[in-house]
Amino acid sequence: MKNIQSLISQMTLEEKAALCTGASAWTTTSVEHLGLSELIMSDGPHGVRRVPDVNSMAFESLPATCFPTASSLASTWDVDLLHKMGEALAEECIALNVDVLLGPGANMKRSPLGGRNFEYFSEDPYLAGEMAASLIDGVQSRGVGTSLKHYAANNQEFQRFSISAEVDERTLREIYLPAFEKAVKQAKPWTIMCAYNKLNGEYCSENHYLLTDILKSEWGFEGLVVSDWGAVHDRVASLKAGLDLEMPGPQERRVKAVVEAVRSGKLDEAVLDESVRRILNVVFKARETPKTGTFDVDAHHELAYKIAAEGMVLLKNNGLLPLKGQQHIAVIGRAAEKAHFQGGGSSHINPTRVAVPFKELQARSSDAELTYAEGYPTDNSFQQDLIDQAIDLAQSADVAVLYIALPTFKESEGYDRPDLDLTEQQVALIKAVAKVQPKTIVVLNNGAPVAMSAWIDDVAIVLEGWMMGQAGGAGIADILFGRVNPCGKLAETFPLKLADTPAHLNWPGDAGEVRYGEGLFIGYRYYDAKEVAVLFPFGYGLSYTQFEYSNPRVSAQRFNAADGLTVTVEITNVGKLAGKEIVQVYVHDQKSGLVRPQKELKGFAKVELQPGETRTVSIQLDFRAFAFYHPKHKQWITEDGDFDILIAASAADIRQTLTVALESSTSLPSILDKESTMREWLADRRGNEAFGSMYSRIEAESRKMFGGGEERYGNESAIGMDIMDMMNDMPLVSVLMFQQNAWDLPAEELVNGLLKQVDSMNK
Ligand code: BGC
Repeated sequence: MKNIQSLISQMTLEEKAALCTGASAWTTTSVEHLGLSELIMSDGPHGVRRVPDVNSMAFESLPATCFPTASSLASTWDVDLLHKMGEALAEECIALNVDVLLGPGANMKRSPLGGRNFEYFSEDPYLAGEMAASLIDGVQSRGVGTSLKHYAANNQEFQRFSISAEVDERTLREIYLPAFEKAVKQAKPWTIMCAYNKLNGEYCSENHYLLTDILKSEWGFEGLVVSDWGAVHDRVASLKAGLDLEMPGPQERRVKAVVEAVRSGKLDEAVLDESVRRILNVVFKARETPKTGTFDVDAHHELAYKIAAEGMVLLKNNGLLPLKGQQHIAVIGRAAEKAHFQGGGSSHINPTRVAVPFKELQARSSDAELTYAEGYPTDNSFQQDLIDQAIDLAQSADVAVLYIALPTFKESEGYDRPDLDLTEQQVALIKAVAKVQPKTIVVLNNGAPVAMSAWIDDVAIVLEGWMMGQAGGAGIADILFGRVNPCGKLAETFPLKLADTPAHLNWPGDAGEVRYGEGLFIGYRYYDAKEVAVLFPFGYGLSYTQFEYSNPRVSAQRFNAADGLTVTVEITNVGKLAGKEIVQVYVHDQKSGLVRPQKELKGFAKVELQPGETRTVSIQLDFRAFAFYHPKHKQWITEDGDFDILIAASAADIRQTLTVALESSTSLPSILDKESTMREWLADRRGNEAFGSMYSRIEAESRKMFGGGEERYGNESAIGMDIMDMMNDMPLVSVLMFQQNAWDLPAEELVNGLLKQVDSMNK
């Protein structure tokens, strides 16, 4: 630290400004006379895209392991596996001379149409945060930095450079920020990348609230904030907002603007120094790990295989799987020959090798004859002859395995998906094959949910393989033949149709804005609240064995929110095969001051069990598991009351429910004001103390005024309503104004007096 301060004092203003802007597509500026080397960054997130020449944005990169993409990773629900992947990524960074890996992405899947959803983990902030934190920790445990991205509310590709995500404060805090918050606090990423878009009208790159108030001050982020590539508009404004490093470079005019702003007094040099300090900190950290050597290509391919297999989700199995004894297997679909294992855009990896799905099947079924038909073309054309060939093949086989990959023109970085559908040809192909072959297996390769209603009832099996990384082809084969028992569970809901999805009416926005009108209700939070049926729920996935949940218990029936709670349950494998179960814990607040989702994921565990084996699983729930963000109090709060603890196999498969009583540990000041209603005065502890005694008189006056309370009207007033039900929702000051004659003081004075009393109790 001292060392860095003394270095900064030896730097010229020009050098400091230059350091805060990149020198090339992927490097920071070096300062030779001080011996400050450059920092090399590379994409990310599921592999190292190291272009040989740092001046080139997107040239074919050096070979590296393409691990499964985030949709697949999150479906493993396996923090240990993600940690291992992080370590392997770091080893590749070290071998390929990369200091900071640009990833992971922790944005929420607001709509399944998001073109980049394959790079993001989940529709649930808790799960996404756990995944991101573990991956970051894995990479950084080996002395390589990460860049958590894209901060924040970057949930679509449509107009991604300019659109303003209009998000209310509570939704931001409860849905769009927690994954970042968890990763920042727990794993301390060296860098965080701001998003291209605006948040509530302000570019994320110039957003002081996001970059400084929340990230650096509230969460204590000590690393550097880097811009997404090309996200900076006004360099001086972005520095003031807390954006330390602009990428890519060089940007001579920007550097000059910073120098001039300091000279003219528009920019405090201390602000620049602070960014320089943060950048140098990372430069020095990076130097501690010399970038040299090679990485173990085989071991990493094997790890990529393991993750891919754990991330695959068996969605439908009529009992046909695992396959055994088939003589003739018809393998249909281009993706069998040309694996679709990653997405398009900045994350595109040049793989060290690729497991070809067809060959992997062949290798595991030496006794069977395997035949192949292409099934569908590379483009969006409709080619009946390809379908006819597939039908011929399928008819004569014992089983048909269809490899259906959502083509790049339907899903990639840079553009959103137009719909949830496979191509017309793919749908026709599945239907045609299923018609002649009841034993039809559909293997999907895609980064986000597809609609299946048109064909799912016709097929025997659906296996969601995701964009599964370079080794995924082997994972599919092992699952089909039962060498691996599938255990992945969905980290996002599969809706029945597009019109059912939470953001449907507010997607993708227009006139420069996208309004997050569904608020807190994305993913299963929405489907729960609206009682909308889904194709496959969040947290769902089949196994070749079955699990039973028993003996649920909690560490305390009544607990203090600050202490949290431990939930314990026993899981038994009651089937015949060894397998893994992902146990989920959701929390339901029975009664809340503000609207809350019906249930929210707050913990999970993955457990491996031999047939007949039982294991005890314990899951910790902390303060945040029960809290919600109160926009008026501007903090996370809990309220006294009962919570249901739902122990579940998926969001739609609750196995055990326990009820606990929470005692709140948050002592909040009253937020009553001149507009507060009588109901609010009564509900507030201090308000009630000050005002409660006036209430019976107000009620009597009101009933007198509106003719209620007497025999003639009963509880109803002369105007046919329960007058107090209405009055309770009027501001106290307005009620008193109606009753001016009954009180000695004017209404405003009365309320002011009460507010003063409450204020003195606050202190
Ligand atoms: C992407 C980032 C990526 C950067 C560098 C941007 O277009 O949004 O995720 O890290 O390019 O390739």
